[in-house]
Amino acid sequence: MQSFPAFHILSARRVIVAGAGEAAARKARLAAAAGAKVVFIASGLDPHLTAEWSGRAEFDARAPSAAVFAGAALAFIAVDAHDEAAALARYAKAAGVPVNVVDRPDLSDFLTPSIVDRGEVLVAISTGGAAPVLGRRLRERIEAILPQNIGALAAFARSFRDAAAARLAPERRRAFWENFFDGPLASRVLAGDEIGARNELVEYLNRSQASAVAASGVVHLVGAGPGDPELLTLKALRLLQSADVIFHDRLVSDKILDLARRDALRFYVGKAKGDHSVPQEDIERRLIEFARDGKIVVRLKGGDPFIFGRGGEELDAVRSAGIPVFVTPGITAATGCAAAAGMPLTHRELSQAVTFITGHAKDDGEPELNWRALATLAHTLVVYMGVGKAASIAGRLIEHGRAGATPVAVIEKATTAQQKILKGRLSDLGVLVRAGGIEGPALLVIGEVAAKADGVLLEQLELAERRAA
Ligand SMILES: C[S@@+](CC[C@H](N)C(=O)[O-])C[C@H]1O[C@@H](n2cnc3c(N)ncnc32)[C@H](O)[C@@H]1O
Repeated sequence: MQSFPAFHILSARRVIVAGAGEAAARKARLAAAAGAKVVFIASGLDPHLTAEWSGRAEFDARAPSAAVFAGAALAFIAVDAHDEAAALARYAKAAGVPVNVVDRPDLSDFLTPSIVDRGEVLVAISTGGAAPVLGRRLRERIEAILPQNIGALAAFARSFRDAAAARLAPERRRAFWENFFDGPLASRVLAGDEIGARNELVEYLNRSQASAVAASGVVHLVGAGPGDPELLTLKALRLLQSADVIFHDRLVSDKILDLARRDALRFYVGKAKGDHSVPQEDIERRLIEFARDGKIVVRLKGGDPFIFGRGGEELDAVRSAGIPVFVTPGITAATGCAAAAGMPLTHRELSQAVTFITGHAKDDGEPELNWRALATLAHTLVVYMGVGKAASIAGRLIEHGRAGATPVAVIEKATTAQQKILKGRLSDLGVLVRAGGIEGPALLVIGEVAAKADGVLLEQLELAERRAA
């Protein structure tokens, strides 16, 4: 270790900043964020900084000397001229004030790290001045994995420290806190339900002397996106890594499941068409049972849980069982497919709206839809679960007034390595699906925007087939 990391308590203490430009302002912002009183050794700042600091900092225009630095907690020197920087650093040292000179570790008593600031939780990264850009890269990575609310979680825990110390024997406290941070109450605080978590923890501490936090669990309905693991949200990734139990769909790939906590229990509860492996009520019952057992339960669904995902039913069921439940949205297949095909879903000239429908009907019959409205609106129509009904959907739309020449795109397994994109006309939709060997999961996109998709045309498909024959 080439330097010793320590966190300075700067609240209401003076911090001297020498310099009038952006480099000085950056250090001043850090000091001010930590509650320091910033004093600039300058009569003013660069014009673009004046508004930011007027009334928020003092200006000491005296000729620099050790007296100017006396009593300060820290000093930052951010002036361009080397001699001036060295002289200012000498004054600070003479006054016994630790000094940082920007870009001059040789003149500095301390280095300023790259910082991840989440309130009570601070992460500081230093490369000892050797590679500041590397330090920033590391910071970006840590920013991405640390929950936004981790500071709130630390503050929450702080507010219970005394109560826990008063009620729990010292040898039990550690297990209590480990249990808390790994458990559903922390998951609720991170999800924003501080009040619910607080009530439950108060109740628990009031009635029990046990070491474990025997709180009820929590259910997260989480969107896994269309397939590419990189399209998971940061929150979805974090929840996967904190889950005790994961219930997942057929559309959630192994690559995504590989990102989950290794020792989480996993249950496949997928529903392929015609294969209702686990009835919906059973899924809901099991989510509730595991949560009642104090577990962090993640219900991971392809795309977005609230778009043709029965997320609404699961939310209602879990909620009515009195279990806290939170929803993390995902990128739905329509936006994943559109991005993959380079095809906007709305377009100023071509499409003023977008409509999502399902081609799947309850009893496997025809979906009961307002075909007239769907055929006549100037919109993009996106059909989920429509592969098996492609020909009849096209027929219905044409029958109700949509032109047979309307462009269509069929996008299968979008955002995965097996992605396939085909293009054609509405009148050929059934043929396109058949000739292209589309099995799904796939979306049918109907509307003028489909002409923009980067895909293989029906004619090209047929030509390739004839050549192969
Ligand atoms: C039960 S729905 C679930 C939709 C999901 N909740 C969403 O928001 O994307 C399943 C259908 O979504 C579509 N789908 C899901 N992932 C897809 C993908 N990667 N490429 C194309 N279509 C997809 C298919 O139409 C599939 O039959």
